[in-house]
Amino acid sequence: MNILILPGDYIGPEILAEAVKVLEAFKAQGETIAWTLGHLGGAAVDAEGHPYPPSTQQAARVADAILLGAVGGPKYDTLPRELRPERGLLGIRKDLNLFANLRPARVFEELADSSSLKKEFIAGLDVLIIRELTGDIYFGQPRGRRVNAEGHDEGFDTMHYSRPEVERIARVAFEAARKRSQRVCSVDKENVLDTSRFWREVMIGVHQDYPDVELTHMYVDNAAMQLVKRPKQFDVMVTGNIFGDILSDEASMLAGSIGMLPSASLDANNKGMYEPIHGSAPDIAGQNKANPLATILSVAMMFKYSFDRTDLSDRIEAAVKKVLQQGHRTGDIAMPGEKVIGTREMGDAVLAALK
Ligand code: IPM
Ligand code: MG
Repeated sequence: MNILILPGDYIGPEILAEAVKVLEAFKAQGETIAWTLGHLGGAAVDAEGHPYPPSTQQAARVADAILLGAVGGPKYDTLPRELRPERGLLGIRKDLNLFANLRPARVFEELADSSSLKKEFIAGLDVLIIRELTGDIYFGQPRGRRVNAEGHDEGFDTMHYSRPEVERIARVAFEAARKRSQRVCSVDKENVLDTSRFWREVMIGVHQDYPDVELTHMYVDNAAMQLVKRPKQFDVMVTGNIFGDILSDEASMLAGSIGMLPSASLDANNKGMYEPIHGSAPDIAGQNKANPLATILSVAMMFKYSFDRTDLSDRIEAAVKKVLQQGHRTGDIAMPGEKVIGTREMGDAVLAALK
């Protein structure tokens, strides 16, 4: 199991250090795990002059899986667009063809009170958002600036999806649903967008191969509302890149804290990049305050999806559950009056629970 670790910016290195403790523990128990470090995002601009430098490209191509912290932050906000940390992230997704982004929003019972929604709406919530990650308006050409027919300057982007792109993400969703409660809700804007009309048509076509799975469709505006109104109606949600970006942030808040949610970005062979959903949190960087649990849970996803080692992923998830039961809380998941521990202490608590 060869892993490339890309800590990234601000809190990235801090949370990754705690994830590495888990890898070290498994290695000490005889697992053949090896890892190397690389640069992505602002850290890569600082070290190598590019947010996704050639050295990282090479290392990423040969690795079996990639663990990423978080990229971006104020230090890099004034860089020209092609050097922005976000470009590094989009670059590696596209380069490695990581088209399937899995963002589970699961509520840990112990944290049901820290959601901004009432407990009865979210207790037991387990939604899997599957976001297409390498197409759509994020990558569509042409894009840029031009002078329009009326002589005005304008900015523009292009939304499109090809049949193979929709087919492959549809299959990921139906396959995932088979391992869950056999329900897929495809989210689009079919009442307005041609891209969405096509998306829905292809979804319905692929669904023919999965008669055991229920397929429903929902407009994205309604889906945004239903997620806060009655989130437990959803099992697997599948959607395009831009809608998935927005809905997955929304769903993360149902789970209490964005500091708890892992994600996986997979190619057609389950090679993957694993990262917490949250960003680089510049405001708390370097203060031993960040919650490392989303990153540690991303390691669990890595063992499950890229290495087919559900035994190891189950152990990590059980350890995280245990530390929550024991009452360990970083600031983001603490209720008023609860004792708050730091990033390193949380990592150590997980390690102790693992043993
Ligand atoms: C995400 C992020 C990225 C995205 C940004 C940082 C480019 O918001 O992973 O959801 O929009 O995909
Ligand atoms: Mg986002």
